[in-house]
Amino acid sequence: MKRIIFLVALVQLSLIVETVSANPQNKLSKSAIEGKALFATMNCASCHTVGQEGGCLGPPLAGVGSRRTKGFLEARLTDTKEAEQKFQSEYSYHAELMPHPRFAPETANKLIAYLQTLPSPKGGFQIEPHKSSEAKSRNANEIKEATAADIAEGARSFYKLGCAACHSIGNIGGSLGPALDGVGSRRDLDFITDHITDAQIHTRMLKGDEGTSKMPHFKATEREIDQIAAFLYTLKSKK
Ligand code: HEC
Ligand code: HEC
Repeated sequence: MKRIIFLVALVQLSLIVETVSANPQNKLSKSAIEGKALFATMNCASCHTVGQEGGCLGPPLAGVGSRRTKGFLEARLTDTKEAEQKFQSEYSYHAELMPHPRFAPETANKLIAYLQTLPSPKGGFQIEPHKSSEAKSRNANEIKEATAADIAEGARSFYKLGCAACHSIGNIGGSLGPALDGVGSRRDLDFITDHITDAQIHTRMLKGDEGTSKMPHFKATEREIDQIAAFLYTLKSKK
């Protein structure tokens, strides 16, 4: 309810501003409103949370406008060469783990205008660290013998279980937990395995003003945990 009142107030505010002056800020809020509608009809929230609503296959998008550049967002949402080049000059690789639908620049810009209005949660995200998993006794040697297929499966599970919502690899993914690049060099297998809990932390992601997140809560099987650990262990730091 509060949110609806806030929105109504926002719309009214933008109307007032529009009648007072014709600054470019108006256009932005108009396209942001259109972008918001697109975000809803295109089901972006099935994978991304905004506030406390949405899925957790993708990183939460609250505050994305302050942690990502416009060039980055354009490259993710359009298929223009220009956007891609900008993206590549900002990031030294081209990696996209989750292919997104490609939009015409006009549509993408509306979505971006909306994404850029999303504030970070008040006081930031409240994240609880992983609980130490009960999988401690898992035999690290067994995981060492993981096959290429296990490792590939582990990579899939990493995204399927929503780990990327908080962790990035290759600068793709969320930033609520540490980036996992090079984790295989700085941590041993036991440590990594220990940190792969059943991702219950999802349920406590947003606290305080945002209330408790309604993010679904996944259960990783022992096999999945082993495979994810094997995958993460292959992420060595570049010399
Ligand atoms: C099937 C799930 C899914 C859907 C639907 C989806 N996304 Fe994503 N999105 C992801 C995943 C997973 C990532 C992180 C991994 C990656 O970057 O490839 C991501 C990353 C992003 C990022 C980059 C965020 C960051 O901080 O790096 C943006 C922006 C984004 N998505 C916007 C959208 C928009 C807008 C829509 C709707 C048009 C959408 N997504 C629909 C799964 C999804
Ligand atoms: C809600 C956010 C969140 C999600 C989802 C999440 N993590 Fe984490 N993760 C964190 C935070 C915060 C830390 C740092 C605090 C800690 O060590 O517990 C962390 C730490 C880690 C570490 C240790 C990294 C290091 O260098 O010390 C590993 C490994 C890890 N997570 C793996 C995973 C895996 C695998 C998943 C998916 C099953 C996952 N995480 C899901 C937030 C998250």
